[in-house]
Amino acid sequence: MESTTVISAAPGDAMDRIKHVERQYQAFPGSQYVLPSDAQEAERLSRQHRLWLNIFGNRLIFPDISFRGDECILESGTANGTWLLDVISRDIVPRSVAFEGIDIEPRIFPVDNALVAARGNVRFSVNTITKLPLEWENKFTLINQRLLIAALRAEEWKLAVGEMYRVLVPGGWVQLGEVGRWEAGPVTAKATSLIHALFAAKGMVADCAVQIPDMLRGAGFATIHIEEKVVPISSRVGEEAGEMGKNLIDVMRGMKTPILNAGGFGIVKSEAEMDALLDAAIEELDRMPSANIRWSVFCGQKPVV
Ligand SMILES: C[S@@+](CC[C@H](N)C(=O)[O-])C[C@H]1O[C@@H](n2cnc3c(N)ncnc32)[C@H](O)[C@@H]1O
Repeated sequence: MESTTVISAAPGDAMDRIKHVERQYQAFPGSQYVLPSDAQEAERLSRQHRLWLNIFGNRLIFPDISFRGDECILESGTANGTWLLDVISRDIVPRSVAFEGIDIEPRIFPVDNALVAARGNVRFSVNTITKLPLEWENKFTLINQRLLIAALRAEEWKLAVGEMYRVLVPGGWVQLGEVGRWEAGPVTAKATSLIHALFAAKGMVADCAVQIPDMLRGAGFATIHIEEKVVPISSRVGEEAGEMGKNLIDVMRGMKTPILNAGGFGIVKSEAEMDALLDAAIEELDRMPSANIRWSVFCGQKPVV
């Protein structure tokens, strides 16, 4: 059962907060991350991981790396560890390869997972990708980070990519999964304008998928590979496309608290209005077989010398 808190709109509040039922969010100092960290979000992330795998041909590791067995892999923004646990459970790297999973919020870390306990070389810690421990320099052969679009501001992207470069061994690879733009009808566009207003207010980068290749080059990554998929998001196309559309709208639902705490950006005036808009958006997607979204994986290799 989710714990919920009803927050009230204080009269005269400078931000004109809109009263609504709030979920659990992280509280890392300085973080602007706008999605919840609770059991409901963990379930969404697990479903999203399955969709991600189906879209990218069931691949978990994109660069061609031959692991000897003494390497370390870092996952940034690991959350409930869906990617990391999948890599371990499929035995696609030697069992002696060590894993570090970091996140600014530990609430949904998979610390009780039997696979993690059995391996003994998998650690989860509270850390930000914008400032990693100094002793991690030249430590990792692979870094996986997926879907931090709703977390990092422009200057933080630069810090994060720089830190990834610093902690990779020469010849090591970073692999970044991100969402790009989506196309649907006017109702979904109105819902999207809420997200864009929120991102603009917080200085976050809605088009990070467009900017990542330059960020990687700017940090010094030499070889860069990009794989982009344009994926249908309407149940008219099929069950999985319907799930993709539902996932997109569930992400928007997850941003309800920061949007309503900011006063709705002149787009919605109440929780009921925001809920109705998102319900209408999913109905619109389900009528529009042409509706689609872009998901991409970017890989960059740190030069050997
Ligand atoms: C949308 S979730 C994606 C989780 C996971 N990567 C996946 O694909 O299933 C983003 C995660 O990044 C974490 N996060 C946000 N800001 C971060 C930061 N500065 N450093 C590390 N993790 C961060 C959030 O707490 C959240 O768990």
